Amino acid sequence: MLTSGGDSPGMNAAIRAVVRVGIYSEMEVYGIERGYEGLIAGDIKEMSISSVSDIIQRGGTTLRTARSAYFMEEDGFKRAMDMLENFEIEGLVVIGGDGSLAGGLTISKSGVPVIGLPGTIDNDLAYTDYTIGFDTSVNTVLSAIGNIRDTSSSHERSTVIEVMGRRCGDIALFAALTGGAEIVLIPEEEPNINSICRRLIQGKNRGKQHSIIMKAEGVNISSQELADIITERTGLETKVVVLGYVQRGGTPSARDRMLASCMGHKAAELLKNNSGSRAVGIRGTEIVHYDLEEALNMKRSYDQSIMELADILSM
Ligand code: F6P
Repeated sequence: MLTSGGDSPGMNAAIRAVVRVGIYSEMEVYGIERGYEGLIAGDIKEMSISSVSDIIQRGGTTLRTARSAYFMEEDGFKRAMDMLENFEIEGLVVIGGDGSLAGGLTISKSGVPVIGLPGTIDNDLAYTDYTIGFDTSVNTVLSAIGNIRDTSSSHERSTVIEVMGRRCGDIALFAALTGGAEIVLIPEEEPNINSICRRLIQGKNRGKQHSIIMKAEGVNISSQELADIITERTGLETKVVVLGYVQRGGTPSARDRMLASCMGHKAAELLKNNSGSRAVGIRGTEIVHYDLEEALNMKRSYDQSIMELADILSM
């Protein structure tokens, strides 16, 4: 098992579940350090029941992680495959985002079955409703919104809060709806500057003392540029807060621990049953799994009804 790409809260809960269910099912479980980099280097150790004690509540990944450019090269990939053979690894669990699972797919095409678990705060994988770490990340953003509101309303300011998510706007969208932001901008929709300015002015005229503009990092205008335009066109003093890596850390929420534990359990079960290469996800409340390649080819679309609701509720 390895974790790869950006870490996400709940990865440790998934590691723990894979190890414990694996051992319970009479398999030997090995942990690979630093993702595909560690696989190439042979940083592989046998895991025991106690090696995953006291980690369910910890953010990050105790196996550590990396983004490996070398693994993408022919030579690096061959070394990784050689290492799997040296250690007689018969199946691999990859916990990570789309790039990490795509790496797993290339391994599976060379003959080693791979089970993918969606570990990323971005919630950008089409085959699953939720990814491990997304819920915690949204909660971290909510806590930041609370703090920013206090100071913004004291100073009667607007604040552009920039959140992560790459090309996916889910962190921004869910945090905006649940945090009561006045405006939300996501990469899936073109920003409408006129409408943003109009809404902010209307809010001010109704007596709003501050406004929160939640902006996903993938939107095609920089946060500072947006803040400058708002200040110039509305007269409202507008600050920028880029939340950055705080969104990736912290103790995982109950929801992420639950998701990670159930998905880790399913991964071990699929390997035990020789089910081939699968991607584990959740649809509604049900843990599901798809052929790994099919899962990665699914096209993602954001939930427009959440956007509409966020708009209505922030009137
Ligand atoms: O994929 C998770 C993520 O945190 C994205 O939201 C963000 O764009 C990216 O990783 C940052 O990557 P890095 O850790 O390499 O700076």
